[in-house]
Amino acid sequence: MNRVAVAQAGEAPDDIGRRDAADPLGYLRGRFHMPEGIVYLAGNSLGPAPVAVFADIDTAVREEWAEGLIRSWNDAGWFSLVDTLGDRIGVLTGAAPGQTVVCDSTSINVYKALKAAVSLNPGRTAIVAEAGSFPTDLYVAEGVVSGLPGARLLLEGRDGGSIESLLGSDTAVVLVNHVDYKTGELRDMGELTRRIHAAGALVVWDLCHSVGVMEIELDAAAADFAVGCTYKYLNCGPGSPSFIYAARRHHARISQPLSGWWGHAAPFSFETGYRPDAGIRRMLCGTQPILSLRGLNAGLAAIEDVAMADIRAKSLAMTDLFIELVEDSCRANGATIATPRDYDRRGSQVSIVFEGGYAVVQALIARGIIGDFRAPDIMRFGFAPAYLGFADVWRAADAFNDVMATGAWKASGLSTRRAVT
Ligand SMILES: Cc1ncc(COP(=O)(O)O)c(C=O)c1O
Repeated sequence: MNRVAVAQAGEAPDDIGRRDAADPLGYLRGRFHMPEGIVYLAGNSLGPAPVAVFADIDTAVREEWAEGLIRSWNDAGWFSLVDTLGDRIGVLTGAAPGQTVVCDSTSINVYKALKAAVSLNPGRTAIVAEAGSFPTDLYVAEGVVSGLPGARLLLEGRDGGSIESLLGSDTAVVLVNHVDYKTGELRDMGELTRRIHAAGALVVWDLCHSVGVMEIELDAAAADFAVGCTYKYLNCGPGSPSFIYAARRHHARISQPLSGWWGHAAPFSFETGYRPDAGIRRMLCGTQPILSLRGLNAGLAAIEDVAMADIRAKSLAMTDLFIELVEDSCRANGATIATPRDYDRRGSQVSIVFEGGYAVVQALIARGIIGDFRAPDIMRFGFAPAYLGFADVWRAADAFNDVMATGAWKASGLSTRRAVT
């Protein structure tokens, strides 16, 4: 069905073909498994499988676990995966070694980072975040606030017009997204961090929608904490563990409440009392899902030998092309492009607001063009330079324009929402 669908969408014009032929990153596509006939624009939700992950997981199960058994904690490096993978993510996020570990989920890492930041800033009790933040960040922040007498959560878009306007003498920490999950809007990390610090507060950056598709300079921005997913543009697998960064200057004073044995200074001394590790491992809690961690190597290896500046340049070129190709049909059909045109404020997705958005996305999926939808009315199309080409962008835009022009999205059944949108 998908093959027919793509054929229906027509073939990309020659100039698009020439752009792909000249693309210096075109060879990266071979590092990913892409089902035939699919144009995959949901990598901002779940990245595709890197080809190398099949052998890695096979080795992890058959050799390391089945044959190596408990010896693999040492012999296969299982116990240090949290650090070795963390440092590799550090390279992608501008963090010097020893400041990033891979562990737990982003939600849990938001909790640890917020609690650590609040404890580093005694006497201050306000947490500032964005009303439009990914809900888990807000839910976790609410949980942190509910456990802190006198604390409050102030939201940009609800309690004030901007994060800056909410900063005050009681602001302990700001939790902010580098790229907004709905609109795809990018924040200036260096500048906002500077303003937050000037107000005496700390910052936790959520990098879920930026890591793997753009240059990030955590150390240079003097960020305090950062968290992020590995299952989106890092292509490390469904539910793959998250990462957490804490700037080295804070390590000695950081306390976080999930003080489990993996965060202990000497886990295998089995001491009675908790004594935190001197470094970033104090952000750990307990035993990590090793098979999931073993999925990270292939995802990272697929992009870590490429300059992030090149990935970013191609990402902008792809979102430019998509916007250019769909803007007339958006205008004609009452849909609005929510993603900023300005490069300094644009992430790697194009979000389009349209009341019938859910059905449009379903109609596109039926044609092999996979994007996603976020309630109440946002269609998201993520552009990952590592496995997409300009012909994919063209095909997606062509199908989108056709679905909008013909009203194909109004067909019965397309509006029936499933559990995951
Ligand atoms: C910005 C942002 N933060 C956090 C999360 C989710 O975190 P978790 O992996 O804990 O479900 C997502 C997931 O899509 C996200 O987009």
